[in-house]
Amino acid sequence: MMKHLLVIHGPNLNKLGHTRAPKWYGSLTLLEINRFLTKQARLKKYQLSTYQSNVEGQIVNKIQSFCPRVKGILINPAAYSHTSVAIRDALMDAALPCVEVHMSNIYQREPFRRHSLISDVVSGQVIGFGPQSYRLGLEALMNLIEK
Ligand code: DQA
Repeated sequence: MMKHLLVIHGPNLNKLGHTRAPKWYGSLTLLEINRFLTKQARLKKYQLSTYQSNVEGQIVNKIQSFCPRVKGILINPAAYSHTSVAIRDALMDAALPCVEVHMSNIYQREPFRRHSLISDVVSGQVIGFGPQSYRLGLEALMNLIEK
């Protein structure tokens, strides 16, 4: 049986590859990112569920409903990284291996992006490699689960 992982993309990431700051995020669309992640996972016999929402509570609901049946979570909470106690609490409660991803190097940007509210509840972070951050993050998550 394939192991199941949840990939979460936060607000405005549905605009990737269209209007959203290619300087920071590259030119791939979210669909293209989800496709390469799904292929990468399949090679290691993992099944991915991908989810994007612009709504904080919907992300919390998704984590709650998936946590009993997934082995780990790959998450880019986008702007909610810097504000959401609710997503932090949901990840803590899920108590699963979890990797935080940011495409941009949040430490090279505005001061308010330098702090992530989930950084101390995740297993690790991959930051600053554009869409490749997701690929590296997924690899790290699967390695962690296999350990
Ligand atoms: C982001 C960084 C966040 O500060 C920003 O709000 C995003 C994307 C990233 O992937 O670099 O939407 O999470």
